[in-house]
Amino acid sequence: MGMIIQTKNVVKSFPVPEGEFIALKDISIDVPKNKLTILRGRSGSGKTTLMNILGGLDYPKSGEVLFKKQNIASLSEHMRERIRKEKIGFIFQSVALIPMMNAYENVEFALRLAGWKGNKKERTMKCLEMVGLGRRVKHMPHELSGGEQQRVAIARAIAHSPEVIFADEPTAELDTNTGIQVVRIFRNLVENEGVTIVMTTHDTGLMEAAECIYELEDGRIVEKFEK
Ligand SMILES: Nc1ncnc2c1ncn2[C@@H]1O[C@H](COP(=O)(O)OP(=O)(O)O)[C@@H](O)[C@H]1O
Ligand SMILES: [Mg+2]
Repeated sequence: MGMIIQTKNVVKSFPVPEGEFIALKDISIDVPKNKLTILRGRSGSGKTTLMNILGGLDYPKSGEVLFKKQNIASLSEHMRERIRKEKIGFIFQSVALIPMMNAYENVEFALRLAGWKGNKKERTMKCLEMVGLGRRVKHMPHELSGGEQQRVAIARAIAHSPEVIFADEPTAELDTNTGIQVVRIFRNLVENEGVTIVMTTHDTGLMEAAECIYELEDGRIVEKFEK
């Protein structure tokens, strides 16, 4: 199986008044390409910290992060910036849509930021259709349900055609059924668009959607399940 991201002995610490808090302890994981991987664990177990490191938003204190076999630390800042901008998309728990823009404009704006060269209108519509919102494009965020807003956020994250999408507790603020819908959209992106997705959750009901699950406890990987 091809791996798109790998970590080797990653340690991450944060300065705290008592000195140093070690949030990740010796994490070595493989993220398989074109699969859905879930990082699960209780609140405070280190999921967000690990996801930020996998996505290049933060750096480890020691250990290596490889993106397509390349050590991220060895790349120039320019190259890292390019990987983040072109190859990675993020979805967060609390949807941060721009309130004055409708669904269409929110997605199109992301394409502008990413410097999308192709037809923006076509791509925006395609992404909104992929998440089942082709008929809601003119709705403002406050006119959409929480689940619909999260779907706009997904359309926005996939708009520039990233290879990897990171979703940090994307279902935490949704009811069970809406959460299942979001995960279904993720499955569709993995199976039909060739995307790799890493999501964090502590919802045990969603686990069967993933090919690969890592369980975190107190900053350590305690289990790995694979299909
Ligand atoms: N910037 C920070 N400064 C100090 N401690 C932090 C910081 N970020 C996270 N932590 C601590 O690291 C641990 C893991 O946090 P986090 O990765 O957010 O966990 P999770 O996403 O699993 O809830 C927690 O104990 C948290 O308090
Ligand atoms: Mg978190």
